[in-house]
Amino acid sequence: MSHEIKISFSSPQLPKSGSLVLFIGSDLQFSAEQKKLLGTAALPGLVRAIKADGFKGKLRSTLVIPAPQGIDADRVVVIGLGDEKDQKDLDAVRLGGAAIGKIGSSKSVTILGFGSDHWTVTGETAADLALGIRLGAYKFDKYKTKKKDGGKAEKNDGPVTVTIALDDVAGARKAAKEADAIADGVILARNLVNEPPNVLDPVEFARRAEELKKLGVEITTYDEKQLARIGMRALLAVGQGSRKESRVVVMKWNGAKGVKGAKAAPLAIIGKGVCFDSGGISIKPAPEMDEMKFDMSGAASVLGVFRALALLKPAINVVGLIPACENLLNGSAVKPGDVVTSMSGQTIEILNTDAEGRLVLCDALTYAERFKPRAVVDIATLTGACVIALGAVRSGMFSPNDELAAALLAAGEASQDLCWRMPLDDEYAESLKTNFADVANVAGRPGGAITAAKFLQRFADKFPWAHLDIAGTAWKGGAAKGATGRPVALLLAYLLSTSAAK
Ligand code: BES
Ligand code: MN
Ligand code: ZN
Repeated sequence: MSHEIKISFSSPQLPKSGSLVLFIGSDLQFSAEQKKLLGTAALPGLVRAIKADGFKGKLRSTLVIPAPQGIDADRVVVIGLGDEKDQKDLDAVRLGGAAIGKIGSSKSVTILGFGSDHWTVTGETAADLALGIRLGAYKFDKYKTKKKDGGKAEKNDGPVTVTIALDDVAGARKAAKEADAIADGVILARNLVNEPPNVLDPVEFARRAEELKKLGVEITTYDEKQLARIGMRALLAVGQGSRKESRVVVMKWNGAKGVKGAKAAPLAIIGKGVCFDSGGISIKPAPEMDEMKFDMSGAASVLGVFRALALLKPAINVVGLIPACENLLNGSAVKPGDVVTSMSGQTIEILNTDAEGRLVLCDALTYAERFKPRAVVDIATLTGACVIALGAVRSGMFSPNDELAAALLAAGEASQDLCWRMPLDDEYAESLKTNFADVANVAGRPGGAITAAKFLQRFADKFPWAHLDIAGTAWKGGAAKGATGRPVALLLAYLLSTSAAK
């Protein structure tokens, strides 16, 4: 599916063929180690090519030199590290992505893990490079039968082998365990999100979740009958206009088995799993409606996190909840004006059937109470308004709890999967008032991401709670259309930071 990549670490060496990747700062000076390894036969040719091209060594700029003199490799890829300031805080994940984007059709790649005077390649750096390489090589081509040039499908080609050559091989192998788990989690999330909605409906989603059982994750799936019995009527209302049944998947990672006290209480993550959001009777306009297959990105990120947890086996207890349904329209569909009773007992007037995410999440939040969680984070492609507010750079983060908000903000920075705290003043809830039920499911357009969060907050008063609106960050549109796998890395960084072992 994704370009198959095999990554290993070795001590510094030059390849006999394929691509050789070198890093260089904007001073265009090779380091002493680079000079020593490349040798006097190769250096003049490389320097000449760099000069002739006008390559400036700017951060993540690249130069490909085919078959340079004095070097066995078929091509050298030079990657810029920028100036001294850039090199203070280099993101090796992105460097790895830049490298893999330039290997052409090479089947073997050696990345020379030597830094500059201002940047040292540690074991951690090499693991980050490996993560960037795996994520950068990703593509979702399982439904393509032919290559662009008419040749046979690419998936029949062998894997690309990547060797990261550096001094601290042992350190790299150790650090790569976590990087590999993150990559696996992100790739699983991307694969789910990119699936077409005729394949990935709520029932199939639950089936894919159940596949994690073999990794030691405890999983229970509830069908519509069972959901009706426990009163999840807000969730069921969203799914009632589709021929596909709704599901709720409950996943458990019990890593802190022997742990007692507050740290034994689980953390809960809840992912919006709307497998397709047509808007329902309040139907969406046609342009880009296909992108509403991505409306289960929150749920996919929960699955991605559980996959990584099963690989890393941290000493924490985590519950994952996935309310999954389809927001479609037929003669049984929910209508504007319908009033439903949520699992919490609160009644909701559904004024706009396109504000369905909060309806599926509110019942999942109520369900989470039974686990007596020490914190609950919900993750949802909830509002177009959040895309307007924060664009594609940071996810919106809402929490009345300063400690939880700080932890999520820090986890975002640490994983470079950024979020930004948004307000929750009670005045924002005013416009959710209605004459006909306890609460309406929409307010006006102003502050739409915040009023959505205020709606959710009514169902999250029994535990510390945060909400991540990932509408702008979960996928890219346009030519690069596809899932990003966010915020798997953020969530993992957060969960691991609370590890009971610490
Ligand atoms: N899934 C959408 C939110 C969305 C829209 C995410 C565009 C990414 C891009 C959500 O269910 C929705 O339709 N929200 C409405 C809410 C409105 C009716 C209050 C929206 O944002 O327009
Ligand atoms: Mn919607
Ligand atoms: Zn939606």
